[in-house]
Amino acid sequence: MKSETETTSGQASEQTKKLFIKTYGCQMNVYDSERMAGLLKPLGYTQTAEPEDADLVILNTCHIREKAAEKVYSDLGRIKKNKERKEQSGGEMKVAVAGCVAQAEGAEITARAPIVDMVFGPQTYHRLPEMIARASRENGDVLETDFAVEEKFDTLSTDREIEGYSAFVTIQEGCDKFCTFCVVPYTRGEEVSRPVDAITAEVRMLAANGLREVTLLGQNVNAWHSAPPAGTAGDGWGLGELVRHLARIDGIERIRFTTSHPRDMDHGLMAALGEEPKLMPYLHLPVQAGSDKILKAMNRGHTADHYVRQIEEIRKARPDIAISGDFIVGFPGEGDDDFEATMQIVEAVGYASAFSFKYSRRPGTPGASMAKQVAEPLKTERLARLQALLEQQKQDFNKAQVGKVLPVLLEKKGRNPGQLVGRSPYLQAVHADLPERLLGQIVDLRIVDTLSNSLSAQALDDRIST
Ligand code: 5AD
Ligand code: SF4
Repeated sequence: MKSETETTSGQASEQTKKLFIKTYGCQMNVYDSERMAGLLKPLGYTQTAEPEDADLVILNTCHIREKAAEKVYSDLGRIKKNKERKEQSGGEMKVAVAGCVAQAEGAEITARAPIVDMVFGPQTYHRLPEMIARASRENGDVLETDFAVEEKFDTLSTDREIEGYSAFVTIQEGCDKFCTFCVVPYTRGEEVSRPVDAITAEVRMLAANGLREVTLLGQNVNAWHSAPPAGTAGDGWGLGELVRHLARIDGIERIRFTTSHPRDMDHGLMAALGEEPKLMPYLHLPVQAGSDKILKAMNRGHTADHYVRQIEEIRKARPDIAISGDFIVGFPGEGDDDFEATMQIVEAVGYASAFSFKYSRRPGTPGASMAKQVAEPLKTERLARLQALLEQQKQDFNKAQVGKVLPVLLEKKGRNPGQLVGRSPYLQAVHADLPERLLGQIVDLRIVDTLSNSLSAQALDDRIST
């Protein structure tokens, strides 16, 4: 899952209580922030983009790399000033830390940043209204980071506010894989799958609201499994069956899913990638490293060769598929030859996009106490080499689209007047001069050029562009 973005969101409102949410980290967090805002709406909270005079500030945090956690503490320093200013003028500002830093560091946060009123982990979001009420009554710190709460998916999915034509739908949460570098199994808890009927109901609701695309979300999305819907014959369903089922919902034209794990890539899903036209030809399948020694030390549970053969099989089913991945350089014990093996697997696979990171020691994970930690300058050097290769591959992939006609889901207005921006099947941003009436439609466009992070395109027919 991507972890490099930071987003703030919201619109100001005069009459109601103001809610400011800052989201750090992955798509799962963006989704959770949206859910929290939805849960707080009935309590009179409206989102604001201004943290200064918010009544409630939520920092929805990410713990996956060290820098992300430190950023939260420095943001809390800034918020402290706002809170003090507001209190001096007779107002009140509640401060909450949510997300994976909250889960992992709990009490340490209130100790280090006493301005924090509430700390709650991703397992307890559905109890947010109750926690807010309690914090207002008691004025003491509220700590909620317990795992294993039932029905969290369903409580979270009610009253969704949808903008645009594409949305995320959580179908799975948590992770049992315990990669030795990763905090997610500790912060997000064990793998839980959301039942088919609840997912179907949410996607139907989205489709009824004009949505065209859904991205099924989960830390290990392809570990999703469930009993088939009531009245349907057959054994347990995997992600392949779920995708085919959702593809039958009228109005939904595109389905994506992220993030997948190589160990859970089953034949049902691969077949669906080849056969279900609504399933987009894009697969985020992190491998992390190319050396078997390092993959073993990371507890990934597969070899480099297994991964490469898996990609070959997927490409047999869907030859044009765009592959995306995550990589870590400088995991403890990574020698020059191990790093070269990572470069080789990248050469062998050919990525359309990727995220790559320097290994960061996360307290409590096995990797943190492993011998042979790699020196920072060497990590920097390796990351630069890897990123240069990945960037080259991305550009090559983008250039290969020039001259082709691709169906583009037009999602919003572009930066320039008269321009619309959308997504290709391969998740590339595509912009073209087109009339606003085409927003929300999937239109065949000819790709004419590439920019560093997008493609430019033209309508096939003059009548469409006016
Ligand atoms: N150090 C560096 N990168 C990490 N990731 C997860 N944990 C760490 C860590 N300790 C990366 C992995 C994962 C992505 C979401 O973040 O590549 O796939
Ligand atoms: Fe972390 Fe590994 Fe689980 Fe992904 S599969 S969330 S990297 S433990």
